Amino acid sequence: MSMSPSYKPIVAIAGLNGTLGQQTLAALLSHQFINCFHLPIRVLTRDPSNIGGEYVYTADMAQYLRADYNDPEVLDAALENVDVVINLLGMYPTSWIQLGEAAYRIGAKLYIPSEFGPDYRCFNYDSPFALKQVQSERARNDGIKTVQIFCGIFMDHAIPAGGHLGIDLQGGRVTAVAQPGSEPRVSFTCVRDVAMTIASVACRRPSTLPDAFRIAGDTWTLRQLAEYYQSITGATVHVTTQDYSAFSAWVLHGGDQNIGGHYQLAAGAGFLDYSNNSSNEWANAGMWQWRSIQQHLFSGN
Ligand SMILES: NC(=O)c1ccc[n+]([C@@H]2O[C@H](COP(=O)([O-])OP(=O)(O)OC[C@H]3O[C@@H](n4cnc5c(N)ncnc54)[C@H](OP(=O)(O)O)[C@@H]3O)[C@@H](O)[C@H]2O)c1
Repeated sequence: MSMSPSYKPIVAIAGLNGTLGQQTLAALLSHQFINCFHLPIRVLTRDPSNIGGEYVYTADMAQYLRADYNDPEVLDAALENVDVVINLLGMYPTSWIQLGEAAYRIGAKLYIPSEFGPDYRCFNYDSPFALKQVQSERARNDGIKTVQIFCGIFMDHAIPAGGHLGIDLQGGRVTAVAQPGSEPRVSFTCVRDVAMTIASVACRRPSTLPDAFRIAGDTWTLRQLAEYYQSITGATVHVTTQDYSAFSAWVLHGGDQNIGGHYQLAAGAGFLDYSNNSSNEWANAGMWQWRSIQQHLFSGN
């Protein structure tokens, strides 16, 4: 399906070997989207001799190019004539800025920054996620259409177990940070759905896109997660509640700037519930189904 039949952008992704790289490449080349792009997809990776993983595409589908984020000439050559630059790098803020600047230099029309997590714009405290806003604003201020995608927690990293969110279903333990009397819900989105959303944004004309939006694959409280797992497997899952105020003091003033604590803090504050204001329908436009937590847990992913 083509979202915009006469528009076929040249697309580059940067960061192949992390969580999102391979799946985003697969999404861009999926039957839903392959006809929307000018092929091959440019794939920037620091070491193209090490492109293993699940799939290696032929040269007409994917062109694997060396990226050196400290070398503007190498980056500009790899991105020459690219319309859409997709940043899939991990927490490397200097490389983010270097990539965003290269996107600007080569005249890209759309930049998708390395967000793909909490919508920290509503946080009422400082967090390491603010560095993401810096890169996104910087690219936007340069004049490139910049679209931030917020998806809550990667389902694949947190369920059935994810220490950064206090979840260990197989180990029979869930720790939920919560304010007294509240049971915050948390949006989980599987990596495949984030990748499909990236492809869905990349194929649309930049002028039709919002600056930022949220998606939410499935949204549950951590207690619901524990109870569901217990009901299906018969194994006991203990739910412990940790007081939000004490946890917040520890994360914000305890000297440990571990990003995992910030995920739990955001969950406890209710800042990860995107179920009521997600752009799911706009993003998938009926082209794929969002994976639910039940499917993720019990249908072999
Ligand atoms: N919402 C969530 O639950 C969640 C969970 C995890 C990640 N995320 C987000 O998803 C995005 C990707 O994270 P990730 O976990 O995939 O990151 P990652 O595995 O740490 O890194 C992704 C890729 O970045 C490139 N890279 C590695 N070191 C680099 C360096 N020093 N300088 C420049 N590039 C480097 C590598 O690609 P090459 O080897 O191909 O060069 C690497 O495979 C981030 O924005 C992260 O915050 C969100």
